[in-house]
Amino acid sequence: MPQRRSKRVAAGNNKGGVGKSGWVANVAAALAEEGCRVLVVDVDPQANVSRRMGRPYRKEKPLVTTAEVIKSGEVGAAADAIVPCGWDGIYAQRIDIIPSRFDLENRISEAAVIGSRGRLARALQGVDDDYDFTLFDCQPSLGHLTQLALAAARWGVALVEPEYDGVDGAVRFRDFIASEINRTEMGNPDLAFAAAIPSMVDGRLAGHAHHLKTLPGIFGEDRVWEPIPRRSIVKDAADEALPLADLGSRSNEMRDVYKIAAQRMIKEFA
Ligand SMILES: Nc1ncnc2c1ncn2[C@@H]1O[C@H](COP(=O)(O)OP(=O)(O)OP(=O)(O)O)[C@@H](O)[C@H]1O
Ligand SMILES: [Mg+2]
Repeated sequence: MPQRRSKRVAAGNNKGGVGKSGWVANVAAALAEEGCRVLVVDVDPQANVSRRMGRPYRKEKPLVTTAEVIKSGEVGAAADAIVPCGWDGIYAQRIDIIPSRFDLENRISEAAVIGSRGRLARALQGVDDDYDFTLFDCQPSLGHLTQLALAAARWGVALVEPEYDGVDGAVRFRDFIASEINRTEMGNPDLAFAAAIPSMVDGRLAGHAHHLKTLPGIFGEDRVWEPIPRRSIVKDAADEALPLADLGSRSNEMRDVYKIAAQRMIKEFA
């Protein structure tokens, strides 16, 4: 892919457990399979995506994490924290990660410090230019840590579990980004909400079918992307901290789903 400056995309929802981290990990893999170089930035103290992509925090062998990057906030500081993801093969070559750990919680108390919201954006300045995509995995909150990611991102995408609270949380995420006051406060006027991505969709549930139908009216026809179904293989890959491809042919259906998502990313963010 010829483009140089990384397309920065933050995955969020003001509701937990809707598939944000699952999407980041699997779409990063699919983007790598499309030939892209991807930087994953874990901005959640739960550090789920770090562990699932093979970079858990180990006391005996500590990594530099998002917590230290944000604490520093110096221009370019993020470079010190970048490691290849822990998966093998092309994934190790094409996907890097800035891992997280529980200590990231401690950055929240710095929210009142002047300029603190721009620390991650500053730390990434000049650091991710060689990637095609930078994906931020946000925690299920619109608080300081998510604002650090949104101050650095160009686009926000919401993972939307098609249930009342999942849709509601995605609307709050969308509206937070849509607010000019918020974007100005975050020093990021160009930030835009790009997509509502139905996630963990269970075809057997009438409630899911109902909420799926409401999404175009809420977010706009063009902003609702292809749905990500709920399949146990996604959980299995996450539990084993492996890419879907390592689970053999039974992962083909979901690999195709994430391939479509990756191709949509490449098209939309060209
Ligand atoms: N498409 C899917 N099908 C089945 N299980 C999934 C899918 N996507 C994610 N999961 C699993 O569902 C659970 C919640 O997903 P995930 O951790 O990705 O959500 P999250 O929105 O990042 O949660 P949090 O708000 O806590 O960060 C996890 O066990 C994950 O492995
Ligand atoms: Mg998560």
